[in-house]
Amino acid sequence: MSAAPEPGGAPPDPAVFRRLMGRWATGVSVVTAREDGHDLGLTVNAFLSVALVPPTVLISLSHDADTTPVIGRTRHFAVNLLAFDQRGLSERFAKTLPPAEKFRGLPVERGNTGAALLPETLGSLEARVARELDVADHRLFVGEVVALHPGREVPPLLFFGSRYAESDGSRTLTLGPPPAPSTKG
Ligand SMILES: Cc1cc2nc3c(=O)[nH]c(=O)nc-3n(C[C@H](O)[C@H](O)[C@H](O)COP(=O)(O)O)c2cc1C
Repeated sequence: MSAAPEPGGAPPDPAVFRRLMGRWATGVSVVTAREDGHDLGLTVNAFLSVALVPPTVLISLSHDADTTPVIGRTRHFAVNLLAFDQRGLSERFAKTLPPAEKFRGLPVERGNTGAALLPETLGSLEARVARELDVADHRLFVGEVVALHPGREVPPLLFFGSRYAESDGSRTLTLGPPPAPSTKG
């Protein structure tokens, strides 16, 4: 491991930062929003439970993502937690597609906020934006949870080292091949 740089020294190498963060395993979610009858959504692993009382979450979205300004305006979003067998949904929502394409053929449900709740997930939550903060090329949304929708009790889809770890539904996880490169995020 390299020594910490002296204050005022060279900034950390972004490639090394990216690789190190890739060692941090996460779940995978699809964040959805709805405006004027149109659904939007994207794959997100920068999702965090911040506090239990009141239930509060945080998401970090690229300014480039189509969903980011919509959440900024509508002040609501849903987080859909993907199950081990939903890699296809993660890949679909990580593509830059017209929003209607992303939702094509998906039998979504509606909760309190109108945001799409995706089928067959581990569960979904809906949140109202309580605070937001622009950091570098991302916007952080702190959401107060307004509704919970528990789903299937099966293993999660996991992301680690730029790959999905998949399960056959038992306790065994297998590291899959790298996903197709994304143009954003
Ligand atoms: C596993 C995974 C996790 C991702 N996590 C995030 C994230 O936390 N925030 C973000 O802005 N983009 C994230 N992305 C990238 C977006 O899903 C991607 O840029 C997507 O194309 C954005 O949708 P849009 O192009 O329709 O706006 C992630 C992609 C993958 C594959």
